[in-house]
Amino acid sequence: MPNESYELRGKYSKLTPDRDKSPPLRPSLEAAYRSSSEEEFSDIDEFDPLNYDGGSGKRRRTPSSRRAAAESTAYKDAPDSRAGVTRLFSNEKQAVARSRLRRWLVPSRLCCFMVLLFTGALVLLLSVGGLWVYKSAPEDGQSPPWYPSPRGGTVKSWEDSYKKAAALVKQMTLVEKVNVTTGVGWAMEMCVGNTGAVDRLGFPSLCLQDGPLGIRFADNVSAFPAGVTVGATWNKDLMYRRGRAHADEARMKGINVLLGPSMGPLGRMPAGGRNWEGFGADPVLQGVAAAQTIRGIQDAGVIATAKHYIGNEQEHFRQSWEWGTPNAISSNIDDRTLHELYAWPFADSIRAGVASVMCSYNQVNDSYACGNSKLLNGILKDELGFQGFVQSDWLAQRSGVGSALAGLDMSMPGDGLKWTDGKSLWGAQLTKAVLNSSVPMERLNDMTTRIVAAWYQLGQDNRTVWDGGPNFSSWTNDEVGLLHPGSDDKSTGIVNKFVNPQGGHGSIARDVAAEGTVLVKNEGDILPLSRNGSATKNGSKYRVGIFGDDSRTNPNGPNSCADRGCNIGTLAMGWGSGAVEFPYLVAPLDALREAFDTDSVYVTDFPTNTPPIKKSPEILMDQDLCLVFVNSDAGEGFIAADGIRGDRNDLYLQKGGDKLVQDVANGCGNGTGSTVVVVHAVGPVILEKWIDLSGVKAVLLAHLPGQESGNALVDILFGDKNPSGKLPYTIAKRAEDYGEGSKILYYPNGVVPQQNFTEGVYIDYRHFDRYNITPRYEFGFGLSYTKFHLSSLFVHQTKAKTPLPSTRADAVVAPPDFDKTIPAPESALAPPGFRKLKKYIYPYISSTSDVTVGRYPYPSGYSVNAPLSPAGGDQGGNPSLYDIHATVQATLTNIGDRDGAAVVQLYVQFPPNTTDTASGAPVAFPPRVLRAFDKFAVPGGLDKTAGKRKKVAFEVTRRDLSYWSSAQQNWVMPTGTFTFWMGFSSRDLPLTGKF
Ligand code: BGC
Repeated sequence: MPNESYELRGKYSKLTPDRDKSPPLRPSLEAAYRSSSEEEFSDIDEFDPLNYDGGSGKRRRTPSSRRAAAESTAYKDAPDSRAGVTRLFSNEKQAVARSRLRRWLVPSRLCCFMVLLFTGALVLLLSVGGLWVYKSAPEDGQSPPWYPSPRGGTVKSWEDSYKKAAALVKQMTLVEKVNVTTGVGWAMEMCVGNTGAVDRLGFPSLCLQDGPLGIRFADNVSAFPAGVTVGATWNKDLMYRRGRAHADEARMKGINVLLGPSMGPLGRMPAGGRNWEGFGADPVLQGVAAAQTIRGIQDAGVIATAKHYIGNEQEHFRQSWEWGTPNAISSNIDDRTLHELYAWPFADSIRAGVASVMCSYNQVNDSYACGNSKLLNGILKDELGFQGFVQSDWLAQRSGVGSALAGLDMSMPGDGLKWTDGKSLWGAQLTKAVLNSSVPMERLNDMTTRIVAAWYQLGQDNRTVWDGGPNFSSWTNDEVGLLHPGSDDKSTGIVNKFVNPQGGHGSIARDVAAEGTVLVKNEGDILPLSRNGSATKNGSKYRVGIFGDDSRTNPNGPNSCADRGCNIGTLAMGWGSGAVEFPYLVAPLDALREAFDTDSVYVTDFPTNTPPIKKSPEILMDQDLCLVFVNSDAGEGFIAADGIRGDRNDLYLQKGGDKLVQDVANGCGNGTGSTVVVVHAVGPVILEKWIDLSGVKAVLLAHLPGQESGNALVDILFGDKNPSGKLPYTIAKRAEDYGEGSKILYYPNGVVPQQNFTEGVYIDYRHFDRYNITPRYEFGFGLSYTKFHLSSLFVHQTKAKTPLPSTRADAVVAPPDFDKTIPAPESALAPPGFRKLKKYIYPYISSTSDVTVGRYPYPSGYSVNAPLSPAGGDQGGNPSLYDIHATVQATLTNIGDRDGAAVVQLYVQFPPNTTDTASGAPVAFPPRVLRAFDKFAVPGGLDKTAGKRKKVAFEVTRRDLSYWSSAQQNWVMPTGTFTFWMGFSSRDLPLTGKF
């Protein structure tokens, strides 16, 4: 009886013998297959930055060339069309002309041959040269080396998990260790990522599944509001509760690792396609929201993933070949900017104990993020004290040995440079690399231990909770399906058990959606609305018209486009891997119809962006109130919809939304009606085309609300909930106002597209403040139906100012030690008779003959032990960075007559004329940076009693008061005078205090 592969991976029992017909795949999987099928590539070698076991990559045709090919085929295949006939005719004519020419050339055949030879040689030379230029990469990466990779197991809070992990890993063979580190390949098991198991020791295959707003490719799960909506709530408790609910669902579906939260992109570019997956364009807002989400996820026992590390700010060119360029874009970020902006939320995540980090597709300073030793070994593992494991984004790993040495711990989904060809950069290759000593045994031990320790840290060894892997399939909706759909194996089993883990999560989704809705205009307090119509005319019914395609559900169903890759009907999430299947979607139109009292209100709807207002002007003229729904969508770069290839093309409303608002606002009630605009959007939208129209009385920015869209909107519109959302980004008057650095690079500017983050720390409001540009609505802004007042600011110093944090202490715990002996190569061969599935990734080598132990070239700088960072010492960095140096207090009063919640924001202004104590160079700062915030619910009422007041207090840490000094490679606190600013937005800061 031959061994079968799933005995090693084993989670599913074989249910039926091979079936001829495979069950239907999910559309997105089919799409993935389509776009990676062999015919779509032309052979071109892949650039491997460290020149280790790079293998070959192939160029993928761009969607436009695919389209062109499809069109030309259609043309050729039309035999009886006029065009077809004409072509035949002209082909015949050309053939006659060619044979004449040939006859004419016969006497000088030699000369002709010479000319042809010359032309051929020239063409060959030019193509080889062209190919060489096309493929060449910058001579050297600009990212400094940082070796060797720090071992995990150096902090107290992980001590027990590392002890247990070490005990288990010590029993593992080489191939078992490799099995744990390498995914088995795209679509080989049930989740988007699956690692190999060590059944012998009871260590399971781990299921990794997207994503930040729900469980991708799964049935019966919640579609929570997106990250940007969560950011807009500024509500720490809701951030936690959404994370927790998400992970409770994940656990019940058998998911070990959730691929979220996302905090990169940070939002440098407002049109960035995936900004909506994260929480807003500020490191502190991102950091707090990420940490709260992670606590929620991990309190449920699921491993959270902080992604995408780092500099993945745009979709265009994010990945090799995806955009036609052989190399991914390089985000060139200086040391200070990296620390103060992009790495900040990752530091918060690590401090919150995140057990996994995903490195991103792009390069950083011309070295791939997943093979960048400075980023992974240096900043993440040494300086920020990360104890979990680093997994690659899907195919973001671009080298084998290089990435292992640079600090990558898990290859996802296991495939190598291309999808589903079975040629992993790890798997058997990693086994070989360890056997031949090019990857030190110690590194493999550390990779494996980090993964196993994370599993223990989250209590996933508890068999009563974790009992047998995922109970759903990412690849089919049927109960019975293929067990290894990406391979040639036709075994089937029960793959979907249709577990429904939603519980009462709809109410959390509704709360987040409502609190993430930002009211930016409310002229004459038109909102909140009354359910029975506030102003009936002479006893006649109050007339409400609802306009816009965005008000209704997609007529083909909310899940009709794969990964939500189209903008039809109401927009409730962006597209890509961060999207999920809606269990249901409450469209605004349906919720509104339900909410209005039909005895006194007459509702008509025109759920289209082109209502027939010319033909039937009365549809506008007859209304007292017009509600108009518009949107702006974006998503991940592997999908293009309506001409948007991931990143938005501009910041205006899409699908004629601006014109619709203008028409409705101008025509509503023949100019006397009131228009309320509701915008669903992935990020900032330029509102200038209509915001000042007299008919536009109120504007709600409802972001991406998820499944409870309509209900949450009704809560706000009718005042059941008082709006308390605040903008997690700035809304400019013109796109140019965001500055040079905000522009997406839509066309490659070199063989390796380069993007220089020259604006440094000045993004979003920091840029507007620096250049004194008036935005339409500033970062942190949002109205309420009540009014708040802040008074009596008091700064209390709790610790003296000193420039540097405490000296880094020695690690309190030592990482586990392992036997470093390299086993005999024979031990890495597959057991006799082992049946390998096609394209499935295994750790076994196929022969011992090509294993040669010897000296292999290492990356430059490898032989030098990098000095430990003085900014390190614990999870999140040197513990003294989190010492509290000041508390800032004030009194918040609700001076309106409604209950409400205010988001109080604390900004810090650094001392003027600061110079770096080491280099003497002047250090410039943004005028103000957000450092703390919280949401406070305060009852309203006309009589001012003590109950209408609340004390607000913030703690300010050393890190909050420090800048990153490249010269000192440390956080430095200036000792001059700081100013604290407290208020309700980045530009409404009534209180100040000195420190
Ligand atoms: C995305 C990740 C995602 C992964 C798995 C990648 O394309 O960038 O965010 O987690 O796919 O679906």
